[in-house]
Amino acid sequence: MKGNVQQYAQQLLGWVDARFPASKLYKEHMAEYYAPKNFNFWYFFGSLALLVLVMQIVTGIFLVMHYKPDAALNDSGIPAAFASVEYIMRDVPGGWIIRYLHSTGASAFFIVVYLHMFRGLLYGSYRKPRELVWLFGVAIFLCLMAEAFFGYLLPWGQMSFWGAQVIVNLFSAIPLIGPDLSLFIRGDYVVSDATLNRFFSFHVIAIPLVLVGLVAAHLIALHEVGSNNPDGVEIKKHKDANGIPLDGIPFHPYYTVKDIFGSVIFLMVFALIVFFMPEGGGYFLEANNFLPADPLKTPPHIAPVWYFTPFYSILRATTSDFIWWLAILAIIVGVLSFLSAKKKSGKTASLVITAVVVAVLFLLEAKVWGVVLMGGSVLLFAFLPWLDRSPVKSIRYKGPLFKTILGVFVVAFIILGYLGIQPPSPIGGLVSQICSILYLSFFAFMPWYSRLDKTRPEPERVTA
Ligand code: HEM
Repeated sequence: MKGNVQQYAQQLLGWVDARFPASKLYKEHMAEYYAPKNFNFWYFFGSLALLVLVMQIVTGIFLVMHYKPDAALNDSGIPAAFASVEYIMRDVPGGWIIRYLHSTGASAFFIVVYLHMFRGLLYGSYRKPRELVWLFGVAIFLCLMAEAFFGYLLPWGQMSFWGAQVIVNLFSAIPLIGPDLSLFIRGDYVVSDATLNRFFSFHVIAIPLVLVGLVAAHLIALHEVGSNNPDGVEIKKHKDANGIPLDGIPFHPYYTVKDIFGSVIFLMVFALIVFFMPEGGGYFLEANNFLPADPLKTPPHIAPVWYFTPFYSILRATTSDFIWWLAILAIIVGVLSFLSAKKKSGKTASLVITAVVVAVLFLLEAKVWGVVLMGGSVLLFAFLPWLDRSPVKSIRYKGPLFKTILGVFVVAFIILGYLGIQPPSPIGGLVSQICSILYLSFFAFMPWYSRLDKTRPEPERVTA
């Protein structure tokens, strides 16, 4: 009987394989994908990001069955969108857990992705030959931010409404196209039913489609070049007679088991939060968002959700006096480029570019630069593969200079995140300006400090 079942299964697989490369794909990406044998804790977060992505899509599908993107007031004077979320929470069987899995899942997604990106910084995973893996990652991160921003409007609470109002208004600061662009995003002169409908469409279909496509590209690119590891050495340099990396182990079963273990631990922690503090102390779901949107009542303090606040702080830090700080930063970078350029054309280019940057800095309003810096501070990650000139990839072999600067960058990022949640204050403003400069300097000076750093030689083989 058992033999028969096995035989039929083989025949079925043969039938499929003749028409679709099922076994080939399984071998290439699982059973014969050789990953370095020294993966550690930091390597859990890629598979966890996949897990959360699937969870967000599945819970999202169930939410859409009951949610209504409608800003019109119902018979009780409550906007229909807000009322539909309350209906999900109170009347739909299991609706509350689906909604909390999705809303807490959004914060979990960012925690996991931030740790996943930090691993990249630790081990230089963005360096050659993984530049495209990294660039797809940065695009994923941008999509994730857009996805979270569009989704946040949907419950049509006070914070949804006013948060969208503030952020969309920012686009109007862009010279020439700004006012038309923000009108285009809103679909109206104020955030309204038209805005809710287009944000809904972007949140449930447009961005998820792009996101899933980018994740596929991210993994295809990764499997083309192979995974990096905590030592930052290329395992493909040493292969056995069959062409298998000596320091590689098959992804399945070794890392499928490891990832299942990581997923179980993650789900335990996640369940604790979903069951016992789904609002995350007001950080995952803000108190003001439990009130229906009221275009006539501005909340006293409008702040984005925690995962946006580091970038939001950079926006708020960009006042007219901060332009001077930026000009000084640009001049220092210009002088360093001038001094390190070998050719005359390089020196001339550094001078011209610095002069243009400084002139344009003072030409445009600080508000415009705030928006540019907020977006730019995310985009800067895309340049890391070319900014890092260290002879080694992993932090294990980097020197005290890189370690200190990375530490300062992380602390500055966390302080910016904290300050972005707080109401504006003079001292908070000054601290966020200092931290914004530290944040920008991490990228701006990397070509120099990564070369100056006293590194240790990388081992030939992984050290696990
Ligand atoms: C939906 C979001 C994402 C998903 C599902 C995802 C998934 C994955 C998976 C499954 C891996 C392989 C396992 C691992 O190395 O942990 C990986 C590797 C990688 N990811 Fe992501 N990722 C996401 C976002 C990002 C972002 C935002 C970045 C950076 C900006 C990034 C950069 C990388 C890099 C550089 C690697 C290779 C790491 C190495 O080999 O050391 N990923 N990703």
